[in-house]
Amino acid sequence: MPGVELVEAYVIQGGRPLNGFVRVHGAKNSVLPILAATILSGKESLIYNCPHLKDVDSSFRILRHLGCVVRRQDEAVYIDSGPIAHHDVPDSLMREMRSSVVFLGAILGRQGKAVMSFPGGCELGPRPIDLHLWALRKLGADIRESGGNLYCETNGLKGAEISLSLPSVGATENIMLAASAAKGVTRIQNAACEPEIEDLQNFINAMGGSIHGAGTPTVVVEGAREFRRAEHSIIPDRIVAATYMACAAIAGGDVTLTGVNPAHLRTVTAALSDAGCEIDVTEDSLRIARSDALKSMRQIRTMPYPGFPTDAQSPIMAVAARAEGTTLFVENIFESRYRHVGELTRMGADIKVEGRIAVVSGVKKLYGAHVKATDLRGGAALVVAGIGAEGETVVTELDHIDRGYESMHVALSALGANMTRKTV
Ligand code: EPZ
Repeated sequence: MPGVELVEAYVIQGGRPLNGFVRVHGAKNSVLPILAATILSGKESLIYNCPHLKDVDSSFRILRHLGCVVRRQDEAVYIDSGPIAHHDVPDSLMREMRSSVVFLGAILGRQGKAVMSFPGGCELGPRPIDLHLWALRKLGADIRESGGNLYCETNGLKGAEISLSLPSVGATENIMLAASAAKGVTRIQNAACEPEIEDLQNFINAMGGSIHGAGTPTVVVEGAREFRRAEHSIIPDRIVAATYMACAAIAGGDVTLTGVNPAHLRTVTAALSDAGCEIDVTEDSLRIARSDALKSMRQIRTMPYPGFPTDAQSPIMAVAARAEGTTLFVENIFESRYRHVGELTRMGADIKVEGRIAVVSGVKKLYGAHVKATDLRGGAALVVAGIGAEGETVVTELDHIDRGYESMHVALSALGANMTRKTV
């Protein structure tokens, strides 16, 4: 049709229960810093359980731009960072993925210099990197900011005592990467404790590095070690798991997630148990079933790990929108992470937002509508709502969702959802 732009969409006929098994893919927020870490060794790395995501493709483009060999076969990725010949990340690649800032510590550690444009803000608000830069300067980097670019160089990184004013995930990762190439010992206090930090530690140690304490607020890095060829399997994606748990909760039925680590999902499990779900776990699987009415979860406060994950806030809000009673959300990590509320409201949700607070009054029914993904996890929340809504939901702006979820329609259709991906 002339003049009408066709777009890709998830089309969901909601209201059907979900039953069966779904395998959760490797963690986006673990594989991204680990792909950056492969730069440090100058050797070959083999990464298993690597998800098929847009952000992973963006990271491959950065590695190839730097000169690395990158090959992929299904979930296995081969990287040889021996032939690195550059130290810059082009603006176009930075704009594709703001979390490319995690390459800064690795490139600086390997090349002694790094150039990249300032990662812009994103849908979640300004995404400052002041802690990253402050910490890298303490490790001996000279960083100049000019014309929207960061020019970094060092004539030798040295270990340092670094006390973070807030447990930033990205800053902790950048410090671990640069400190692994620094002479001497670096101690990070108030480090982020997310499971992805521990996965990064385990990969760097597999490469011959020496990091201890990841998963606790104090991480100690012994730098400038002889790196070697490494193999590593990425941990499961706890936020994708939380999203599929939310789908099962809102739809009702009986779903088992496989390839997960239930220990990474304790706060989400607690919230959905309060909502009336029955949840059983084994070492690597989690079964969630709901046959009774969905109840309010009363209060959800996002906090650094092991608190309730900010990335699960929007998918769980979609569940709260359909529960009996009121749920109060407090978003303590990002300053504007409620952009999905407007779209949920189009589906009949009753949500009031005041700053970091959102009051969700559950409604008996959500109704299918044409909605747009506003960001990665906000988009996932619209899929959750569509699964639990009456009628047809069309979700567009799928680029956001493709950054962090492999083919949601395939996974959810396998559980009995009526969900397709098509051009509309
Ligand atoms: C990581 O982002 C994740 N991204 C985010 O997941 C996640 O929401 C976040 O950690 C918190 O868990 C990746 O791992 C790629 P932070 P990051 O530094 O590292 C402020 C998703 O949906 N801050 O812990 O950027 C910052 O503004 C994404 O998968 C500073 O002020 O998060 C935020 O308010 C979204 N100065 C808070 O700290 C800094 O120098 C937490 O940010 C750095 C951060």
